[in-house]
Amino acid sequence: MKLSKELLNNLIEITSNSAIACYPYIGKNEKILADKAATDTMRDQLNRLNISGKVVIGEGELDDAPMLYIGEILGNGMGPEIDIAVDPVEGTNFVAKNLPGSMSVLAVAKKGNLLNAPETYMDKIATGKHIPKGSIDIDFTVEKNIQIYSEITNKKNSEITVCILSRPRHKKVIEELKRLNVNIKFITDGDISGALLVTNKKFNVDIFMGIGGGPEGVITAAALDTLNCNFQGRFLFKTKNDIIRAKKMGIEDLNKKYEINDIVKGESIFCATGITSGDLMNGVIRENNKYITETIVAHNKSELVLVKKVI
Ligand code: FBP
Repeated sequence: MKLSKELLNNLIEITSNSAIACYPYIGKNEKILADKAATDTMRDQLNRLNISGKVVIGEGELDDAPMLYIGEILGNGMGPEIDIAVDPVEGTNFVAKNLPGSMSVLAVAKKGNLLNAPETYMDKIATGKHIPKGSIDIDFTVEKNIQIYSEITNKKNSEITVCILSRPRHKKVIEELKRLNVNIKFITDGDISGALLVTNKKFNVDIFMGIGGGPEGVITAAALDTLNCNFQGRFLFKTKNDIIRAKKMGIEDLNKKYEINDIVKGESIFCATGITSGDLMNGVIRENNKYITETIVAHNKSELVLVKKVI
């Protein structure tokens, strides 16, 4: 059984509508309200689909009683069994402050094919499809990875750009990149988009690295896998509670290095609709009482496909 074209079109419709639901909150400094608007819309529309879906990456866990919690069953129960990863608003700060780069995101795979990830941090590294699998490794030093990248691509360090979240926890990595004379593209939030910049030369990002959200890591892996790009991740646990939750989700080896196919297996669909405009796509535009949306889709293609919709 293949994930159908109809499902793909439905998912594009859903992320478009959840992005539109956020539109009134752009620049209103109300990130919780923006997230709620998008989440309610996404949940409502997923529930109408002919699927037997289960949220594996969500807005929280049942104990916090949010919508779209991990383990929530979605759909009318009549169609294919699928695992669903949701991020109704990726970059809540961007929406609240009307900054570029927020988007509404969904990824799906067949049941059992998407990692059930805890809400903790993940160390990540990603490169494009022009880099042979297994050459860059999250366990290598920054210097070794840059050297390997430079040898494979024939680029000098000064021609290589690394994208990383601008966070104090990355101080050492950033110092090392500067010492190596590598260019840095800092992002203030939104590391799914940051990692997706390795998918096409036009974005001028060679490597994505650093620590961000674990759920975002799983969604990123789903997108990069269908695009034949490279990704590795490792969860990081700060508190005892983090560890207990991870074990409850079936994660036994807390130090495991996740290869892309440990995170996502088989066919998957990723789609993300821009809320505010960013590097990857435009945000929602309102024109003559209609909304124009742009959605990037990754599904068995060598590149991200951009789909425009008028709703
Ligand atoms: P939200 O949209 O949920 O606010 O997440 C934004 C984000 O920047 C993610 O893209 C990233 O993975 C994570 O937050 C990083 O977390 P932190 O801000 O704690 O460093």
